[in-house]
Amino acid sequence: MSQKIYKPKYVKKILISQKEVKDGITKAANWINKRYSHCKKRPILLAILKGAVPFYAELVMQLHFDFHFDFMVLSSFRGQMKAVTQPKIVTDIMNDIKGRDVIVVEDVLDSAKTLTVLKKYLLSKKPNSLKFIVLADKVDLRQVPFKADYACFTIRGDKFLVGYGLDIKEIARNLPYIAEFDKKYLNKL
Ligand code: IMP
Ligand code: MG
Repeated sequence: MSQKIYKPKYVKKILISQKEVKDGITKAANWINKRYSHCKKRPILLAILKGAVPFYAELVMQLHFDFHFDFMVLSSFRGQMKAVTQPKIVTDIMNDIKGRDVIVVEDVLDSAKTLTVLKKYLLSKKPNSLKFIVLADKVDLRQVPFKADYACFTIRGDKFLVGYGLDIKEIARNLPYIAEFDKKYLNKL
């Protein structure tokens, strides 16, 4: 039985289908497996809530080594299309990361202000290594220089993305694909 795909009117265009997202995440898992399978101390896979949840859930099932889960909540967007505040740590990491190998899993890299703040914070805790894996990298929108260690998908131009964890005003995280948001619906949600 074929599954009906939910495509709300604010979806301008599906950019990356569910199958393509899943394949992209499998590649990211292979990349991580290759580098972390032989770590002496168990790595920490740190998801940034809430956007990274679907990506993280899919990714962890494909990792073939023992590691610890951890989570942080950062806020900057507050459900709008542009950041309205400086990124803030709302919920801190639970593990002591000193001397540990930390892999940050984030949904999207845009201006890179959020990950820049996070990187500085995590480095101050002296991990053995720190890497950043992102689902979507909006490479043309950087306001501060930042290079992800691994990006599943590169998005060109000024697009606002929804789906697979990415939200607009806290909705659309459940869409099983990555799509461009139709900005004409911004005030109608
Ligand atoms: P940055 O600090 O500008 O790189 O933005 C990072 C954060 O903004 C992400 O963790 C997302 O929560 C949010 N964000 C940036 N671009 C998008 C987008 O296209 N769709 C949904 N959320 C986004
Ligand atoms: Mg996020």
